[in-house]
Amino acid sequence: MKRIFSGVQPSGNPTIGNYLGAFKQFVELQHDADSAIYCVVDLHAITVPQDPAKLRKRSREIAQIYLACGVDPSKASIFIQSHVKEHAELGWLLQCMTYMGEANRMTQYKDKSEGKANVNVGLFTYPVLMAADILLYDATHVPVGDDQKQHIELTRDIAERFNNRFGETFVIPEPQIQEFGARIMALDEPTKKMSKSAENEGSRIALLEDPAVFKKKIMRAVTDTENEIRFDEENKPGVSNLLTLYSLYADESVESLVNRYQGQGYGTLKKDLVEVMTDKMGAIQKRFRELDDQTELDRILKQGADQAREIAEKTVNRVKDAMGFVRI
Ligand code: TYM
Repeated sequence: MKRIFSGVQPSGNPTIGNYLGAFKQFVELQHDADSAIYCVVDLHAITVPQDPAKLRKRSREIAQIYLACGVDPSKASIFIQSHVKEHAELGWLLQCMTYMGEANRMTQYKDKSEGKANVNVGLFTYPVLMAADILLYDATHVPVGDDQKQHIELTRDIAERFNNRFGETFVIPEPQIQEFGARIMALDEPTKKMSKSAENEGSRIALLEDPAVFKKKIMRAVTDTENEIRFDEENKPGVSNLLTLYSLYADESVESLVNRYQGQGYGTLKKDLVEVMTDKMGAIQKRFRELDDQTELDRILKQGADQAREIAEKTVNRVKDAMGFVRI
């Protein structure tokens, strides 16, 4: 059985990186899997301070984006993590199966905690809650961007350790990371990943951003002084990132783009890229606006949570039985 599970944090406006690395895959995978479950991971979002009103708004927004991108609630369950209490419960059980050293090695934790005076414990145990998300549903495949690979490796290690100690309990999940588009880079600093929480707004393009706004960002995107269109991630990260975006949005290979733009300047490439993106993003933005019906959205989220809970409850019972908890 092929079961897909993935999640997105409601912690900022989703970017085109989130779209190309994650949402886009979610839509494709829902058709060839036996089941697919997509979560809005609000419990993860609170590992950094969140404004309550914004968190509530953004949680619904992420669900609405799932739908606008093409996730079909008759094929996939969409739900909010905090609506299924088993995530927190299994999270605790798995914390007691995870070594400090393992959690300490997580690069996302290092990046997010670096230079901060007050880091909460939740940020440190974040990847264990993520392991709980995945293992609760016996997920076989987890579509994510490249930055989440290490967390999935940890999930596999925890699951294998548990199975060795208590007997076969968890399915060992595989990360599903695309060869191309799994790491969209920041526009202002193309050696860093595009992130929805980076300080500089010019570094990223939000999925729901107005074309007039993202046009400026693309036109200002950092390239290099060569003015030669060539795909070379090491020496020309800016141009390579623009070619990646172009290729994914236009569904045209990088090779063909490089040939087509031979001898032309970066300005032409950028202008054409804006056009292609305006087209594709416009369609998602239009659907997003059409789906602006909170009653219907909440109905979908409730249905998704009911479906998820049914699986999650069984897993937690199985885990607790294996570990030796009393059942009455
Ligand atoms: P989050 O919310 O940061 O990002 C959501 C998804 O988008 C991918 N992504 C990118 N892909 C390509 N290029 C980029 N620049 C880029 N930035 C982000 C991320 O890899 C991710 O797939 N920890 C997760 C959320 C999570 C989760 C889970 C995922 C919680 N539980 C269980 C899978 C399974 C996160 O912070 O994603």
